[in-house]
Amino acid sequence: MASLKDQIDTTKLPKHIAVIMDGNGRWAGRLGKTRIFGHTNGVKSVREISEACAELGVEYLTLYAFSTENWTRPQTEVSALMSLLLKTIKVELKTLLKNDIRLRVIGDVSSLPRSVVAELNEAMEKTKGNKKMNTILALSYSGKSEITHAVKEIANKLQRGEIAANDINESLISDNLYTAGIPDPELLIRTSGEKRVSNFMLWQLAYAEYYFTDVMWPDFNKEELYKAIIDFQSRERRFGKTSEQLVTK
Ligand code: IPE
Ligand code: IPE
Ligand code: MG
Repeated sequence: MASLKDQIDTTKLPKHIAVIMDGNGRWAGRLGKTRIFGHTNGVKSVREISEACAELGVEYLTLYAFSTENWTRPQTEVSALMSLLLKTIKVELKTLLKNDIRLRVIGDVSSLPRSVVAELNEAMEKTKGNKKMNTILALSYSGKSEITHAVKEIANKLQRGEIAANDINESLISDNLYTAGIPDPELLIRTSGEKRVSNFMLWQLAYAEYYFTDVMWPDFNKEELYKAIIDFQSRERRFGKTSEQLVTK
């Protein structure tokens, strides 16, 4: 069977793809299994999509793995997710090193269990020189808390006299987000049929193209990713201009 990969224009790839990996629980429920079974199977999709992005030459892949709001889930599910995270980082470190992928994290890392923080720090340290791709895990992350954190950082700098109120501009705000130095995503993918951003990258997604699919995250594979990229490449990104301006430019 021919792959949709052949239809992708590799000269017009999104540099940064962000994914809201949703639907693990429903996917498992349909099979009569526990929600945790769904999360475990979701890890396979993480591996497959990271590999596909690295093969294509996508530079940044951000995965929404655990939101600030997800702390309100039943304690058993939260604990299982933290254990799965710990195990996954341990197991996948080899793959990250082999594939020249740098691991980064955005979110309130300090709220994660100490064992997870230690494992993440080790993986980030060992992969920090890797160049092919950046995989960014959003953990204990929400867009509103990220912006609040940035505002506090800026207020502290102002108070210390390091900046003046007039220095506050969009780039200063960007520089104080967890994603400082990382280009904004051009493509946002959300699986499972939900059409909302659920507090994800509120600042960074200002001009992203949104792609929604009914496919549940554990079923999301390389071909599904290619479909999203092909759809992205068919869109006209106007950034407030008119179509005519884009063709004459
Ligand atoms: C996404 O799947 C994974 C996390 C939010 C951790 P869900 O767990 O939200 O699955 P559904 O949406 O209940 O099916
Ligand atoms: C968003 O999914 C968070 C992650 C994928 C980590 P949720 O399943 O938590 O979002 P809501 O609750 O349906 O908005
Ligand atoms: Mg969900």
